[in-house]
Amino acid sequence: MTKNCKIAASVLAADFTRLGEQIREAEAGGTDFFHLDVMDGHFVPNISFGPMVVQAVSRLTRLFLDVHLMIEKPERYLEAFAHAGANMINVHVETCPDLRSTVRLIKGLNLQAGVAINPETPFEKIKVILGEVDRVLVMSVHPGFGGQHFIADVLPKVVEIVEAATIANPTVQIALDGGVDPETTKLIVQAGGNVLVAGTSVFGVPGGIAAGIAALREAAGLP
Ligand code: DX5
Ligand code: ZN
Repeated sequence: MTKNCKIAASVLAADFTRLGEQIREAEAGGTDFFHLDVMDGHFVPNISFGPMVVQAVSRLTRLFLDVHLMIEKPERYLEAFAHAGANMINVHVETCPDLRSTVRLIKGLNLQAGVAINPETPFEKIKVILGEVDRVLVMSVHPGFGGQHFIADVLPKVVEIVEAATIANPTVQIALDGGVDPETTKLIVQAGGNVLVAGTSVFGVPGGIAAGIAALREAAGLP
């Protein structure tokens, strides 16, 4: 298991009227990745953005881009996001009747693959794929909107994944997405999560983006 936590700034919470500036600020402030939330208004009740915005972000930064597809039939759009500059694609287990083949399609595009799991979905649903993915994206809110409260009930599931991963896939990233702030970061790190996906606590803090990232790093015990 990767020891040091990584921070993924979730672009959904950025000010889109100044996207370039915000991306540069987050990069200078020390984010490790950018997380891009794609929502279709079907799997989740909100609509966000598609490959065009991912491509715009890829022109603004050289950092790793992880795309989180909250869409029905994600397999139809994998190639488009690969061309847009994604480095990793996360698909929801709830949208993939044949998860293994979707993960293989992602890998076939030379991208890293992640599986996202909703708060109510048990670990058993992704157990078989644990050995084949680069990341498990544990949703700690109901997907669809930023700025929601962290659902601490998912922490036992994180512990379960961490335990299973020590045998099945010791290098897998275990990410938490939703309601991640300096307070909840402590709980996440304690449970064994090692990627913090954070929108509001990066882009929405009064002190600015760099201060938001610094607070998360401190809470995670990072230098
Ligand atoms: C929610 C998204 C998250 C969102 C997190 O459906 O998957 O990535 O941006 O936002 P915060 O950090 O504000 O909870
Ligand atoms: Zn997300």
